[in-house]
Amino acid sequence: MVETTELPLATGERIRVRKPLPPAQADALSREILALKKKLNAVILAHNYQVPEIQDVADYVGDSLGLAQQAAKTSADVIVFCGVHFMAETAKILNPGKIVVLPDKDAGCSLEESCPADKLAALQATNPNFYTVTYINCSAAVKALSDVICTSGNAVKIVNAVPKDKDILFIPDENLGSWVMEQTGRPMTLWKGNCYAHVEFQQENILRIKQAYPAAKIIVHPESLREVRALADAVCSTEKMITYCKESPARQFVIVTEAGIIHRMKKECPDKEFLCAPVYDVNRMPGDSCRCNECKFMKMNTLEKLRDCMLKLAPRVEMDRATLDRARLPIERMLEISAR
Ligand code: 13P
Ligand code: SF4
Repeated sequence: MVETTELPLATGERIRVRKPLPPAQADALSREILALKKKLNAVILAHNYQVPEIQDVADYVGDSLGLAQQAAKTSADVIVFCGVHFMAETAKILNPGKIVVLPDKDAGCSLEESCPADKLAALQATNPNFYTVTYINCSAAVKALSDVICTSGNAVKIVNAVPKDKDILFIPDENLGSWVMEQTGRPMTLWKGNCYAHVEFQQENILRIKQAYPAAKIIVHPESLREVRALADAVCSTEKMITYCKESPARQFVIVTEAGIIHRMKKECPDKEFLCAPVYDVNRMPGDSCRCNECKFMKMNTLEKLRDCMLKLAPRVEMDRATLDRARLPIERMLEISAR
């Protein structure tokens, strides 16, 4: 049972947030998880947005691209995927013969929800020259209708590789799509989906933060709105954000994405300062723990649920063979173009 506590926001709202586990309890659970991992010959893959205690027991922590690459090459018998459902599904598509479990099967994504396969098929039918480039944040059924998959880490490279005579249909994130259009100069038809969390970052917030911390570099995820991206020193995927912060001579960074990533940044760059952009209230300064920049889906996973899914080997990701086989082609095409 996850304990929660109420937190007042400066807006007057009150929100319920997860209470961090007491250290002794977290340690005991982590030891149990590591023993189960050995027993099952399992690999634990975790996204950069997962809670710190999950990141700390994972074999690999990274962005969607890194996680797909790890899933494609693992020799483990069981893949334990700590992220959201479409990410675990991708691991299963790449490993049809392996058991893939996830801590919470209801960990969805607003982008995936925005794009049902039947609506996509209807749009595709309007233009036989469409070449569908699909952001990995979608269901297996949508992947199965796609020509190639991309992530925020490789979207520019993937779009640049699309044959020039094709009309690109980019789905389902219109903000990532508009950023990729700016970077590549390729016109694209954009699906009208967005990440409910990233579109909460507002230009006026970031402007205030820039004024308060003029020496800080502003790092923005491309799922954010165009006017927010325009204020960035760098626009990139979560993994590239970490590389940027490591390599930059700057000492202070404002991170405009989901707050879970700060854990890795602090671990990997202990001598630098990371300020997590707040979203709702322009009077709040970065560093205030308003929790309004947390993805409610990513944060459904807890250490207890992770232990339980390894104990029960459930919930498992399953899908029909035809979807699985069809969805693998555009993912493999992405991995091949990415490796060039
Ligand atoms: P990354 O691929 O940059 O990790 O992003 C995944 C995601 O869901 C962003 O909201
Ligand atoms: Fe989906 Fe946004 Fe959550 Fe990423 S942060 S999993 S895009 S809802």
